[in-house]
Amino acid sequence: MKFPILFAIFLIFQGIEISNSFTINCDYWIYSLPIIGSVYECYTTNIPTSSGITVTNVTGTHLDGKNNNDVTSVQINGNWILSFVPRNFSNFFPNIKAILIYYTTIETLFGDEFDEFPQLEFLAFYYFNLTTISSKLFEKTPKMVYVDFGYNMIERVGHDLFTPLNVTQLQSVYFHNNRCINRYVQNGNTTAIISLINELREKCPFNDEFPSTTTTTSLTTTTIKNLFCTNESIEDFVCDLKDSMIEVQQNLVTKDEKIEGLENKLLELQAQIQIKDQKIEEIQSESREKFENVESRMQWLEEELLRLTTHPCACK
Ligand SMILES: *[C@@H]1O[C@H](CO)[C@@H](O)[C@H](O)[C@H]1NC(C)=O
Ligand SMILES: *[C@@H]1O[C@H](CO)[C@@H](O)[C@H](O)[C@H]1NC(C)=O
Ligand SMILES: *[C@@H]1O[C@H](CO)[C@@H](O)[C@H](O)[C@H]1NC(C)=O
Ligand SMILES: *[C@@H]1O[C@H](CO)[C@@H](O)[C@H](O)[C@H]1NC(C)=O
Ligand SMILES: *[C@@H]1O[C@H](CO)[C@@H](O)[C@H](O)[C@H]1NC(C)=O
Ligand SMILES: *[C@@H]1O[C@H](CO)[C@@H](O)[C@H](O)[C@H]1NC(C)=O
Repeated sequence: MKFPILFAIFLIFQGIEISNSFTINCDYWIYSLPIIGSVYECYTTNIPTSSGITVTNVTGTHLDGKNNNDVTSVQINGNWILSFVPRNFSNFFPNIKAILIYYTTIETLFGDEFDEFPQLEFLAFYYFNLTTISSKLFEKTPKMVYVDFGYNMIERVGHDLFTPLNVTQLQSVYFHNNRCINRYVQNGNTTAIISLINELREKCPFNDEFPSTTTTTSLTTTTIKNLFCTNESIEDFVCDLKDSMIEVQQNLVTKDEKIEGLENKLLELQAQIQIKDQKIEEIQSESREKFENVESRMQWLEEELLRLTTHPCACK
């Protein structure tokens, strides 16, 4: 049984290698965003959740007269399982200025995630597990006007996160419903935004030394599940494997039972043979007795015969 299990694990790892790159399926629509207004957007919810992070093709039907160059926004619904920011979107959509990404399990933004979008103005990274943001996040995206990190679990924000940006251009900054801060500004009030940035530095201090728990993916059950179990074909494969193992196990049990039955039958036969042996012995000894009996009687008869023939009154 050892071989199939190892083989299965090998296949699972292979599956991850295979899905290092992936195709994203877009629904295209016109969407209206605060501050920047109307965008032509790719909405997607089907990003694979393996460790592979590179987009290698984009599919979906464009609205009439539109093509990839018209796409200015990407909206990613991570379905509560997406664990990385997909890379190389810009190879397909070179004019992205807005990114909305939510319902992910991403805990840390290391800083280079959005470097490929120099025109980025709008980032909404809300809902869920984000705890740590690097100072480098906006180094390559100086045009930011809208930043939303609401409803996360933020504890650490790089001291210089906003340093590359022109604060007077910033319109809305959201850090409400987080662990270290609960505040937002949405009316382009520069004084209030500066005050919010100072509050971040005070309450969510972070000098870009990433804690090992977030830099190395610790193989917790959740991580393993995220890495291994979200590819349906792998999941199906593992399920099938489990089923067939249970079947084999059951067969073994049945065979055990059969062998036990045979053993019992053998014992029974042995017992019967023993009984028959005893009977044979009994018969033998009985017949021996009878034979001896017959023999002694014959002897007696012979003796009697001799006696009768030698008797004085014996017939002549
Ligand atoms: C899932 O894994 C299989 C290999 O087991 C691979 O062929 C397939 O492309 C993967 N699918 C996705 C969406 O990653
Ligand atoms: C990428 O997707 C497009 C649109 O579905 C398709 O025509 C094209 O063949 C794909 N390219 C690759 C390399 O898979
Ligand atoms: C991602 O895009 C960059 C820039 O075009 C390219 O150098 C790199 O090879 C791409 N990565 C993959 C895995 O295609
Ligand atoms: C993400 O946050 C949700 C909600 O608090 C929690 O249930 C889940 O365990 C978290 N996931 C990870 C991978 O931390
Ligand atoms: C910041 O933006 C304001 C308003 O757009 C502009 O007047 C100012 O010159 C900018 N500052 C820098 C350093 O670019
Ligand atoms: C801007 O924010 C500051 C600090 O929160 C506040 O005192 C001021 O009244 C605000 N200005 C406007 C025009 O709302």
